[in-house]
Amino acid sequence: MLIRNPEATPESARTILRRNDRGGYTVPNGRIYPFQWNWDSGFVALGYLTFDDKRAWQELDALFAGQWDDGMVPHIVFHKPAEGYYPGPEIWGTRHAPPTSGISQPPVITSAVLRLFREAKDREAAGKNARALFPKLLAWHRWWHETRDPERSGLVTSVHPWESGRDNLPDWDAPLAAVTPKLDVSALRKDITHVNADERPSHDFYNRVMTLVEEAKALGWNGARVARELSFRVCDLGIQCILMRADRDLRALAEALSQPVVGEIDGWLAQESAAFGRLVAPDGSFRSLDLRSGQLSPAVTAATFMPLYARAVDAAAASALARLFEQWMTRVAFAVPSTDPSYPGFDPQRYWRGPVWLIMNFMIADGFVAYGFDHIADRIRRDSRAIVRRSGFMEYFDPRDGRGLGGCDFSWSAAIALYWGLLD
Ligand code: DGY
Repeated sequence: MLIRNPEATPESARTILRRNDRGGYTVPNGRIYPFQWNWDSGFVALGYLTFDDKRAWQELDALFAGQWDDGMVPHIVFHKPAEGYYPGPEIWGTRHAPPTSGISQPPVITSAVLRLFREAKDREAAGKNARALFPKLLAWHRWWHETRDPERSGLVTSVHPWESGRDNLPDWDAPLAAVTPKLDVSALRKDITHVNADERPSHDFYNRVMTLVEEAKALGWNGARVARELSFRVCDLGIQCILMRADRDLRALAEALSQPVVGEIDGWLAQESAAFGRLVAPDGSFRSLDLRSGQLSPAVTAATFMPLYARAVDAAAASALARLFEQWMTRVAFAVPSTDPSYPGFDPQRYWRGPVWLIMNFMIADGFVAYGFDHIADRIRRDSRAIVRRSGFMEYFDPRDGRGLGGCDFSWSAAIALYWGLLD
């Protein structure tokens, strides 16, 4: 029987966003993540859209204050100093003003802008804001397609597990194993002072990912060199799908705003579609690709359903994904586990190795609807509603029983629950 959490109401979700608002930008959680995170901001903006259009646009403006001259939008903007997070701005050493990290994150922002543009109540402001953001979005998409795809292969390179936003996926085990750890940061970590260590990545993971930060720093954060020379270079299935969807959404914005770049965007979409087959495994599932070794990931993660969100597959592939979803659901109670529950490394409490994340559920359900699998999308939405009602706005959830995990009062969980109508 599910216990009703009295905190899971629209008012309490709005209160979380207001409490996590640091004056124009929203922290994911004040203790674990006390700065502005890139893809979090896209979902947070959708949450604000349900009650305060102006604040939704402001969230995105704050993020773009951190955009680099080469178009990159960093994964963290350190607007103001805050205690309790490692690695802070001095470790990244990017010398940007305002201080930022040196890597990006899945570009969900473009799709959020399209939703704001279409759905915001103040139509005049929506047109003005979308027009002002358009060149910044375009510069960021060009950065993905040019700097991060130097060979114009149609598949973009990610250089750090944190760039995927799905930090400790099994997909990164093999590529990270090829990174020789050059430092031991276990004593510097702050995350495990806030959250149970069993629910977070390992020390070994941290030593390797921080080695990557040092490598990029040694290259002076030069975008072109980072893309070609870092010892971790992968095509993350999540980023690739989110980018393809973002390209489609950017195209829709370009048309609506009469921006003469539709041909350029069509070129990207054609290249991505042509290359997408490189991410299909012999069993028909979709995987990340290690660009250094040429190997597909041995694990299937929830991103295997994301080609639906990207509108990147045909009806037959969509039906196969619907069947795969049904198989997964024979093993867990709540959709959608972040890693295949039959994978030997499936860990239902450890971050991206098993737990359910509401923002992934939202995107995966969107994809199933687009291909006519409304009953699956309904199932995902029903499960999302049930876990939020049971456990509140936690960072992630155990797919076996819906128990909340990670940080509490999490901005993107509150925001997507509001936008997706999980609390009515
Ligand atoms: C962290 O610090 O855990 C973040 O996910 C990095 O973006």
